[in-house]
Amino acid sequence: EAPLKVVVAGCGVVGGGLLSRLLWEDGFEVVGVLVRDPFKRRDVDAPAELFSNDVDALLAKKPDLVIEALSEGEAGHDLIRRALAQGVDVVSANKQAVALDPAGLQKLASENGARVAWSASVGGGSPMIETLRAARAAGPVAGFEAVLNGTVNFMLQRLGEGADFADALADARAAGFAEEDPSSDLEGRDAAAKVKLLSYEAFGKVPNEVPCDALSAQTKVGASPVRQIGACFDKAGHLDASVSLNDALEDALFQSLNGERNALKVFGADGRVWACKGRGAGRWATTESVLADVADIVRARRAAVELV
Ligand code: NAP
Ligand code: HSE
Repeated sequence: EAPLKVVVAGCGVVGGGLLSRLLWEDGFEVVGVLVRDPFKRRDVDAPAELFSNDVDALLAKKPDLVIEALSEGEAGHDLIRRALAQGVDVVSANKQAVALDPAGLQKLASENGARVAWSASVGGGSPMIETLRAARAAGPVAGFEAVLNGTVNFMLQRLGEGADFADALADARAAGFAEEDPSSDLEGRDAAAKVKLLSYEAFGKVPNEVPCDALSAQTKVGASPVRQIGACFDKAGHLDASVSLNDALEDALFQSLNGERNALKVFGADGRVWACKGRGAGRWATTESVLADVADIVRARRAAVELV
């Protein structure tokens, strides 16, 4: 069987991890790597000729799959659309890119006989989208609450232990948890995009607005745990969504989260509750989630071939 031809878009924390795995994995041929600066020094040992900032040239290589891990939402969204329009399968870790229009991306994929998946874009290495799908398959969902941002959870823990704000942020960046522009983490936009993607799974639509509390050097963090909670509930057809800093938590699951860990609770309309927790950010946790989507796509491609 011919190897799957892959373009990896982005070669930072996530893309670099994926590239290093795919270069050694049987069954894949990396045909190009999209970056802004093809000549930058990187922490991945890969042939220099793979790197390009030319989207047209990379798509002209006719990949079977694009793995999108860019740090820019609009650029990621445009790339996903272009790949899907060409009938190329896409796996994305970029929540801002997908949250711009998840329904539109799925429609474009199905119109072009392509597949699109984005589980790594919510909950890093934990199966949040899968948990919501399981809950929804069992019946209507009333809402969900979740710790969705590894950087903020990691920083809140460090601040609660008495760390300086700038040091806590520097450590989150060094660990590869923070976004390229960390104001997206601190001001709640990263969590808000994840709330939109979970809402899409829960209710088939995204909330119009997700008001956010910001974490700043002025935020008071004492000895009792503070968490950033993303939530969305269906209030008679209106989606009531928010990202808030909550210092009065009595929730054992959310209180138990250390470091960059994330967790989700889904409330069924019949009173049942589903939950999951796991790593929320970082190179290898995210790489594993992306590879799980890739494995699903490879299986679906094989099944499609067998049916023809
Ligand atoms: P990163 O380390 O900042 O890397 C971003 C990469 O995107 C860089 O290689 C950069 O190229 C490239 N890039 C950005 N805009 C581009 C453009 N317009 N054209 C071409 N290349 C472009 O970011 P990251 O941490 O890997 O995150 C990547 C994506 O995964 C983000 O959307 C993030 O939200 C998501 N994600 C991250 C994590 C995590 O733990 N880090 C977890 C889950 C999901 P240069 O290298 O040339 O600058
Ligand atoms: N910056 C994000 C976070 C990466 O800290 O949760 C994972 O999506």
